[in-house]
Amino acid sequence: MERASLDFANLPFAYQKTDANIRYWFRDGKWSAGELTADEYIPLHMAATCLHYGQEVFEGLKAYERPDGRVQTFRSLENAKRIQRSARKLCMQPVPDEIFRDAVQRVVRANRRFVPPYGSGATLYIRPLLLGVSSEVGVKPSHDYLFLVLVTPVGPYYKGGLTPVRLIVEEEIDRAAPGGVGDAKCGGNYAAGMRATLPVKEKGYAEVLYLDCREKKYLDESGSSNFYAVIGKTFATPASPSILPSITNMSVQQIAKDMDLKVEQRQVSVDELPRFNEAGCLGTAAVITPVESITYRGKDYVYAKDGKAGPITAELYKRLTAIQWGEAEDPYGWTEIVPGA
Ligand code: PLP
Ligand code: COI
Repeated sequence: MERASLDFANLPFAYQKTDANIRYWFRDGKWSAGELTADEYIPLHMAATCLHYGQEVFEGLKAYERPDGRVQTFRSLENAKRIQRSARKLCMQPVPDEIFRDAVQRVVRANRRFVPPYGSGATLYIRPLLLGVSSEVGVKPSHDYLFLVLVTPVGPYYKGGLTPVRLIVEEEIDRAAPGGVGDAKCGGNYAAGMRATLPVKEKGYAEVLYLDCREKKYLDESGSSNFYAVIGKTFATPASPSILPSITNMSVQQIAKDMDLKVEQRQVSVDELPRFNEAGCLGTAAVITPVESITYRGKDYVYAKDGKAGPITAELYKRLTAIQWGEAEDPYGWTEIVPGA
């Protein structure tokens, strides 16, 4: 394999053209076999439901080159289950597990030269996308769907590695409501958050931390990742109907239990900000990103000093990434080798 000529150690988190994406069409009640193509554009009717009525859901996962040169994914079946839940919530056609898996494996194989080398810190980001493609003007679900998986080599989403970032609690703008679609991975949730995020990024914050929109009292999540706090020997993470159930969070909770931490998934109040010893963001893109400080009503609560993560955050990061990169044994059965890649 001749690797793509990219500066893998310095990649941004951004789209890069690769060799292929894969597409499956749902028409007349059945899925097509799946076709690899180099075409970066999709033929789409101008009245497609994804464009007008937001019938669009997606996923995010990564492929990692292991020290032995093989390529693996991390808990991809959980991504398949989540896109099925997201699809059902938006009255869309769910993608079967086998198609999701076939798509991920074929598209990674077809883009093997873009999988960043082990040790570069970069990964191949995999972005599955499901679109309602029938033309409708009335508000109703599409009959036909396109399931597409694209990949792009990426570097860190935030500053990189274990560099702490600053967050600010958002009190005015809501991302999602309890009975809404905040727990689905649909594009509209991200559009809804941009007006909150853009102004604070200019002030040096990495992200906002949303509050529950009913009481404005409990921490929800950030626009691109779940949130946790370490309080003594407890790992606490918000339970909320309006946040995305994060696969990284689910995994880190298991690792935390195995480190003899107490794990609490519960309402986490803003009043607890002074009690946190450490805090962090959790997600495929974010991995585990330590939180340096959280600003709330003009006051900074500081959790990481001198650019260094706290000891529990550092240990969680070490254990999680060792499994994801294939450096350590995977006692949980979370990783899967991509055959032939
Ligand atoms: N919350 C939001 C809003 C996200 O976009 C993501 C990213 O996928 C997450 C949480 C983290 O989820 P996961 O760990 O499954 O990537
Ligand atoms: C991911 O972590 O995979 C996401 O989808 C977050 C996105 C905002 C980059």
